[in-house]
Amino acid sequence: MSVDLVVVGLGYVGLPLARRAYEERMSVAGFDISAEVADGLNAGRSHVADVPDSAVRAMVGAGFVATTDPAVIASAETVVICVPTGLTEGEPDLGAVRAAAESVAPHLHPGVLVVLESTSYPGTTEEVVRPILERGSGLRVGDDFHLAYSPERVDPGNPHFGIRNTPKVVSGCTPLCAKFAVAFYSRLVDSVVVSRGTREAEMAKLLENTYRYINIALVNEVALFCDQVGIDVWDVLHCAATKPFGFAPFAPGPGVGGHCIPVDPLYLSSKADAEGFAFTMLSAARGVNDRMPEHVVARARGMLSDAGKPLQEAEVLLIGVSYKPDVPDTRETPAVPIARGLRSLGAAVSYHDPHVERFSVDGADVPHQSDLAAALRRSDVAILLQDHSCYDRAVLSSAECALLDTRGQIFGRRVTLL
Ligand SMILES: NC(=O)c1ccc[n+]([C@@H]2O[C@H](COP(=O)([O-])OP(=O)(O)OC[C@H]3O[C@@H](n4cnc5c(N)ncnc54)[C@H](O)[C@@H]3O)[C@@H](O)[C@H]2O)c1
Repeated sequence: MSVDLVVVGLGYVGLPLARRAYEERMSVAGFDISAEVADGLNAGRSHVADVPDSAVRAMVGAGFVATTDPAVIASAETVVICVPTGLTEGEPDLGAVRAAAESVAPHLHPGVLVVLESTSYPGTTEEVVRPILERGSGLRVGDDFHLAYSPERVDPGNPHFGIRNTPKVVSGCTPLCAKFAVAFYSRLVDSVVVSRGTREAEMAKLLENTYRYINIALVNEVALFCDQVGIDVWDVLHCAATKPFGFAPFAPGPGVGGHCIPVDPLYLSSKADAEGFAFTMLSAARGVNDRMPEHVVARARGMLSDAGKPLQEAEVLLIGVSYKPDVPDTRETPAVPIARGLRSLGAAVSYHDPHVERFSVDGADVPHQSDLAAALRRSDVAILLQDHSCYDRAVLSSAECALLDTRGQIFGRRVTLL
């Protein structure tokens, strides 16, 4: 039996894609190396916050199956690879992309479309994925099957933009490959943008995230400077953001987290290094962004010292430890280096976050506080790291302990802004 789509890697990107295809009445299956992920989905349980259990149950009811058996790939008209592209010892790790391509290759058949959606450096589709697929299948891209790259633009927790209304950049190894990929994505998204080739699409994704990374670094450095010279950075940002042209506002913060923004620029710099190109903005931005957790610790320490309390005797409460608002994801969250820094200076650290059930640093759990108001009463200093929309500003504004707001949102007698 054939299915319209097999998604390889059913995480934050792959599961919403499978759901979107199901909404368009495509027949869908999923392949994942994690038995826990596959079993959970088959039992109607979602592990991705943007996809509710009810949606997974509806998909399963319509025939969706998740499996750890790559043989399911043989049934696909289209295969989309959405596996992680992280770092190992600070360097791009394409292990999952290679492994996924190795799993796909023996199950390819003539006419199938394979798309890579994972973020990676320019050349990955042509130089890494293509040879694995051709070697393992005995088939040729362009002659026998179609190979394309289309970067994912999922923004978890975004209530306004989902897969359907976010324009999708699509490219192919040949013009015919691109045509097949456009036909596939046109069923799922309102607007498809075709790039010249796969390297342009790969580079476009890295540009999008590097643009964010560098602009965040710029406002972070402006915040550090303003702190040193006594200028209210939040007022500066408010004023600058009123310019209706030529200025895109970004906000400073405690550091850059998540699976993409701090990681993707390293894919770009690694490719630049390999090509002998000195990408100076990337290293400068990293230097600034990496300093922010340390700066937050120093600010908290200064606030305590002003109150005559040494950090080693202090109870510090971290408020919001996920890497972005309203999501449970703690990957690369700056809350980790901040908790580590505070602990190393002897502080007793706990956290409050209604989205994060468990938060551990270097293998040691950080105690969880479920009652924010009570935790604020017990703490010497609280640090707002993530301004989840569920947080009651009145409770934070009237905190009985000193509060360091790294998001520039809370005003009150005992509140200090980053
Ligand atoms: N999460 C985001 O917000 C986001 C946004 C845009 C782009 N991306 C990119 O999309 C890609 C996927 O990210 P994600 O956040 O969905 O990752 P994820 O960790 O949420 O999910 C990846 C899934 O792939 C599975 N997997 C790993 N290796 C596999 C293999 N060899 N074969 C089959 N399955 C395998 C894992 O078990 C996991 O379930 C990455 O390149 C990421 O940079 C992510």
